[in-house]
Amino acid sequence: MKKGVIILGSSNSKGETSQLVSYINGQTDFDIVDLKTKNIAEFDYEFKNQEDDFLPLIKTIVESYDTILFATPVYWYTMSGIMKTFFDRISDCLKIEKETGRKLRGMNMAVISCGSDHILKEGFHMPFKESANYLGMNYLADVHGWLEDGEIPTTVKQKLGDFVTSLN
Ligand SMILES: Cc1cc2nc3c(=O)[nH]c(=O)nc-3n(C[C@H](O)[C@H](O)[C@H](O)COP(=O)(O)O)c2cc1C
Repeated sequence: MKKGVIILGSSNSKGETSQLVSYINGQTDFDIVDLKTKNIAEFDYEFKNQEDDFLPLIKTIVESYDTILFATPVYWYTMSGIMKTFFDRISDCLKIEKETGRKLRGMNMAVISCGSDHILKEGFHMPFKESANYLGMNYLADVHGWLEDGEIPTTVKQKLGDFVTSLN
């Protein structure tokens, strides 16, 4: 049976978003991919970046998992640049890697965000939801968390627990 993968898109592999991801992973058996450790260039109209880590990564994801959890810090009210680059590169799957793109169809998507504010601005999830819609993926759920004095507060732990339950 296929399972879920968490794509961590923080500029800090051991930062606050990664702490939320570790907490969620204590309750699941999802794998984690840290985009910070990958060499993924921005989208190129001439696809001169085909030899970087994106295509092998997305191929593994569509073959091995049925759910993708995007975990991103909130940077300037939106997803991180690393995460946005990953989304931009999904365009490769619509142009030069169509078979892989087709396999995204029917997969599930969920979003974990981490910010210093406790509330996200309206529209934060729109790019995820619309991308899921465009790609034929099912948008399952999202959760927003934050840390206080380096710890995950009880309210956030509850939200993360509810989020994990909603994925089943
Ligand atoms: C470049 C940058 C921009 C940020 N913009 C926001 C923001 O718009 N809203 C917010 O709530 N927090 C913002 N923050 C705070 C981070 O979202 C917060 O500290 C988060 O927990 C960092 O996660 P990380 O350790 O995985 O990077 C920003 C932080 C950085 C570095």
